[in-house]
Amino acid sequence: MSDRPNSSDKKLRSRAWFDNPDNPDMTALYLERYLNYGISQDELQSGKPIIGIAQTGSDLSPCNRHHMELAKRVRDGVREAGGIPLEFPVHPIQETGKRPTASLDRNLAYLGLVELLYGYPLDGVVLTIGCDKTTPACLMAAATVNIPAIALSVGPMLNGWFRGERTGSGTIVWKAREMMAAGEIDYAGFIKLVASSAPSTGYCNTMGTATTMNSLAEALGMQLPGSAAIPAPYRDRQEVAWRTGLRIVDMVHEDLKPTDIMTRKAFENAIRVNSAIGGSTNAPIHLNAIARHLGVELSIDDWQELGEDIPLLVNLQPAGEYLGEDYYHAGGVPAVVNQLMGQGLIHEDAVTANGKTIGENCGNAEIEDDKVIKTFDNPMRPRAGFRVLKGNLFSSAIMKLSVISDEFRMRYLQNPDDPMAFEGKAVVFDGPEDYHHRIDDPSLAIDENSILFMRGAGPIGYPGAAEVVNMRAPDYLIKKGVKSLACVGDGRQSGTSGSPSILNASPEAAAGGGLAVLKTGDKVRIDLGKGTADILISKEELDERHAALEAAGGYPYPDHQTPWQEIQRGLVGQMESGMCLEMATSYRAVAQSKGLPRDN
Ligand code: FES
Ligand code: MG
Repeated sequence: MSDRPNSSDKKLRSRAWFDNPDNPDMTALYLERYLNYGISQDELQSGKPIIGIAQTGSDLSPCNRHHMELAKRVRDGVREAGGIPLEFPVHPIQETGKRPTASLDRNLAYLGLVELLYGYPLDGVVLTIGCDKTTPACLMAAATVNIPAIALSVGPMLNGWFRGERTGSGTIVWKAREMMAAGEIDYAGFIKLVASSAPSTGYCNTMGTATTMNSLAEALGMQLPGSAAIPAPYRDRQEVAWRTGLRIVDMVHEDLKPTDIMTRKAFENAIRVNSAIGGSTNAPIHLNAIARHLGVELSIDDWQELGEDIPLLVNLQPAGEYLGEDYYHAGGVPAVVNQLMGQGLIHEDAVTANGKTIGENCGNAEIEDDKVIKTFDNPMRPRAGFRVLKGNLFSSAIMKLSVISDEFRMRYLQNPDDPMAFEGKAVVFDGPEDYHHRIDDPSLAIDENSILFMRGAGPIGYPGAAEVVNMRAPDYLIKKGVKSLACVGDGRQSGTSGSPSILNASPEAAAGGGLAVLKTGDKVRIDLGKGTADILISKEELDERHAALEAAGGYPYPDHQTPWQEIQRGLVGQMESGMCLEMATSYRAVAQSKGLPRDN
């Protein structure tokens, strides 16, 4: 780190608040209130770095609630390394509890955290990450402000168990829902099965969006190596909280910032790791957003180009069998990175939060259990990345290749001359309520080759882009053994769902995308080989339908219910480019580019 100045050469930004000889009156004002819970003037003027602990845990966000405990060990570490910790709340985001969808709040938490990191006397920050959107919200804010930052994952829950079998977060809900629809269990049995998957504090124990984003935060270099996968209740989790507190103080002295760590190379590493772990379809949205706030070029096509051919190495539900504890015991992220390093698929010189390169960190990481993490030569599946689809239905949507089931293959992909393409009758639902009302309606005549469409579920339409695209087949088909139909939509899908869906369609119907003019009964062709998805109608008819839609005022969406819904709808971009507040992406490294905010 010799090329970076240390604190003796560089004035800490907190000095402008607590020790500003040019403005002694204001210094007194700042000091007196921070003294009022027992911090002393000596400490605040000692020249020690002030370290924020951005607390995402609360009673409203149970996935991250354990951070309230872990923060104590973070404080210990910060103190021991010669810093002063100041813990503060981040707008809570809870994936399953927030209506209309937690992803409405990612950009709100981001905005709030940007103001906190910029406007308060903080020299560095520990970002407490975990539940799905908390990780991108924190990394996006750290990217925008660009003060030294390190992430600390809260860790997954312990494995869930029911009658000797692992029950994984979310994944068991989709399975239990099918079992109830098939009459195999009643409602009480349904609840019991679902509850068994959440045996402790922590985030979802499957390879859903939480495990994905926490793994990718490590692959990006923003966490201590090997720390992402440690289950929340383990003693090792407490220890790494302490180490994270120790380390952030050094990062401030080294001036090691998000822009030094999250480079284009780091994102390329993360995309490849995402394929190898079987990561969530939400990952491109969030990583593209973080990259945009850093000014790193990253597009949805990069995901296919860099990630599509990477094999699936991690055997976690929903694509595989195991859960979070097993992932940790098998070696976690470093073991996966090491396998990719062996193939030359990792930029080994990417610098990480501990000051070493990812190559140095993972060079000796071995697989400790090859049932859970496979070697590159003996993977779970050969190609685990995302296929990007384009056509007259949307400019882009993605499909996770690793969840294409044998059933799906046999039903849809059975033309030997054209083994990756299928055609089917569209059945279109306007939002999840419409789907719930009508999915079992026999007059829709859904058959085993139909393609279900969900629209009105995007960033503007829902609002916030809801996880509603994975739809079950009607009861009458489930009873015949048809479990999953092809689903397509302008919403998202839970990372815990193994459904073979085509997701994140951009632009969404509410932004004038092709889904808005699709009609039930239209024939649709999807070619997973060529990466196309089209309504099979003439160009003239397509243009007529778009003109008629425009004349009618566009695809309708529900009224704003809160001020934030209205603000976000006015500023938000589409999922393919990260669903960012578009205007916010022009603010880069504001701690450097904008200097300090004016005095209070
Ligand atoms: Fe919070 Fe899954 S719901 S991590
Ligand atoms: Mg989710």
